[in-house]
Amino acid sequence: MKKVAVLTSGGDSPGMNAAIRAVTRMAIEVGSQVIGIRHGFQGLLAKDKVPLDARAVGGIIERGGTFLGSSRSPEFETEGGRQKALAFFSEEGINGLVVIGGNGSQAGADALNKMGFPVVGVASTIDNDLSETDITLGVDTAVNTALEAIDRIKTTASAHNRAFLVEVMGRECGYLALISAIAGGAEVVAIPEFPLDPEEIARELRAAYDRGKSHAIAVIAEGCRLNASGLSAWFKEHQERIGFDLRVTTLGHIQRGGAPTAFDRLLGTRMGAEAAKSLYEKESGVLIGLSKGEIRRIPFIEVIGKKKVPDLKLLTLARILAR
Ligand code: F6P
Repeated sequence: MKKVAVLTSGGDSPGMNAAIRAVTRMAIEVGSQVIGIRHGFQGLLAKDKVPLDARAVGGIIERGGTFLGSSRSPEFETEGGRQKALAFFSEEGINGLVVIGGNGSQAGADALNKMGFPVVGVASTIDNDLSETDITLGVDTAVNTALEAIDRIKTTASAHNRAFLVEVMGRECGYLALISAIAGGAEVVAIPEFPLDPEEIARELRAAYDRGKSHAIAVIAEGCRLNASGLSAWFKEHQERIGFDLRVTTLGHIQRGGAPTAFDRLLGTRMGAEAAKSLYEKESGVLIGLSKGEIRRIPFIEVIGKKKVPDLKLLTLARILAR
């Protein structure tokens, strides 16, 4: 493959820079030129390109975000938008594309690949909502960031015997909430796939005090029907009856920012390098993911439109260990 392009799309995630660097250097290793596309699919439509060589991707492995920039592009979701992208590739003599991003971005990658243009995806989102890959790029950093916050909240909660609710990201997938709750020693966890109603949350928090705890922490995913603001309002309304109030912290985009952990730098590096190799070996229409410790090329057909099923054993574990 003579010329390959790389872009980052959707919500950024820590480790994307490591992946761009690895795509670039591995593609150069196998004899390709590399073009970076700025600001994701939107930048592709605007022909916003930058040539990448080994030096251009130096000094970025330790940086959070994505030095190419990212976006969400409604125009690319249309047939017309994708035709525009294909015309650009043909003008530029680009023969392959690596898309580093999450669910929506990989759906775009799949659509382009189905139109006959070789595309390889790199599973990258803090939500960990892509099927067939155990973990996506950025999750480890996001979990560690959430844990730092939970640990801090716990100390002040204990000092005042307070109940806290921490809302973490995760629009449709509760992975981040579940793992943060287990590793943070939370008393309650609610995720979109297994939501709890406010009465249940109140009961579990009360039960934690009754067991002699000095704090009670609930971790919920933003995608739960009643999120932080809804629950906060509910607890205010029912405070007198339930006997305690609930302090609420929404972590929001703090979880997406910051330097990637060692795990994410390594994962981004391994995935990015594999993506470039896969294009070189003419295997496109695949998502690069991690399964049982191995970097794998997973056909898009096994991933796109599939819902990741949460691990029920982990949910049970979270509930048992909250005792
Ligand atoms: O990238 C995934 C994610 O962080 C979700 O967890 C969250 O719901 C969403 O992106 C937020 O998107 P935006 O940054 O566009 O508001």
